[in-house]
Amino acid sequence: MANSETQVPAFLDLDSISQECREMMSRLPRERGWMNLFLYQYQGFWHPPRQLQATINCQRHFQAQDSDIILVTYPKSGTTWLKALVFSLMNRHNLRDHHPLLTNSPHLLVPFLELDLYFDAHAPDLSQMTSPRLFATHLPFVSLPEPIRRSSCKIVYCYRNPKDTFVSLWHFSKKLRPKELPSLPMELLFDRFCSGVSAYGPFWDHVLGYWENPRETPGKTFFITYEEMKAEPRAQLKRLAEFLECPFSREEEDKGTVDDIARLCSFDSLSGLEPNKIGKLPIGVDSNSFFRKGEVGGWRDALTPSMAEELDRISEHKFRGSGFSF
Ligand code: PPS
Repeated sequence: MANSETQVPAFLDLDSISQECREMMSRLPRERGWMNLFLYQYQGFWHPPRQLQATINCQRHFQAQDSDIILVTYPKSGTTWLKALVFSLMNRHNLRDHHPLLTNSPHLLVPFLELDLYFDAHAPDLSQMTSPRLFATHLPFVSLPEPIRRSSCKIVYCYRNPKDTFVSLWHFSKKLRPKELPSLPMELLFDRFCSGVSAYGPFWDHVLGYWENPRETPGKTFFITYEEMKAEPRAQLKRLAEFLECPFSREEEDKGTVDDIARLCSFDSLSGLEPNKIGKLPIGVDSNSFFRKGEVGGWRDALTPSMAEELDRISEHKFRGSGFSF
């Protein structure tokens, strides 16, 4: 774990990778990484080395409970926001003062399976977590631990327009890429994103993996977009609450609980809170790295028209016939 400026952040530290994982990695397809030297292709998706080991730990050891709630996103699609919204929805007392979100990063309140819990531990002790347990993951559907797919736990899948997702990812990787590695031009990363080579990518396959599977398990997966949350947070919170079987009562609506949650979790509110402005998360990333602009359509300032057209073209091609669209 990184605890000083001079140490390698935990997510980049390769020393603790097991011999078993190293041997596996030596047989997997490999491409240059965005923040790490390499990404490895496992079950059709690209993973940084430490996350790959954690994915395998989690696939082997995670036991789901029917009451679990799993928040799933492709990176930079609204994870931090969704964690805050669902956590405050499930813990909606004291929203105006003494609420845990006022003193903790959403990433500490809703841990990632592969980036927190199973990152260092083969089988972390989850016995202290109260039900319903809230977890997050960037794992593609195909790589979810089997018990998640078999149990009746609920999945909330949040996705975002690929143009804003790519731009957000590019800024994030620029900030986190170790100074010792040569910087990578945006055009190069754009080509990699388009060809699917980004952590947890291909982006389109990630979305489709979840989109095409709920048919097997009706009522298990709830879809929400970053853009919907931005346009109508109140309505989306009510939809979420219904899906999670904790609808707002008339009394709560009258006393403004829905508005309180939306306000507490808004970009301006969250990004201004002390725990999100200073310090590092256990994984070694600055807490403020998860807040940049928080806008819809910001890609217009970063992408050329031909880049935007290329992403639209790929989306149109990949989603054709799936019934899915942005
Ligand atoms: S991560 O690393 O996958 O957990 O990142 P993630 O949280 O998915 O994405 C970061 C982007 O989400 C924006 N953000 C928000 N937008 C609206 N409201 C709230 N509360 C909020 N919190 C974070 C953040 O600014 C990143 O988007 P960009 O476009 O880079 O600003």
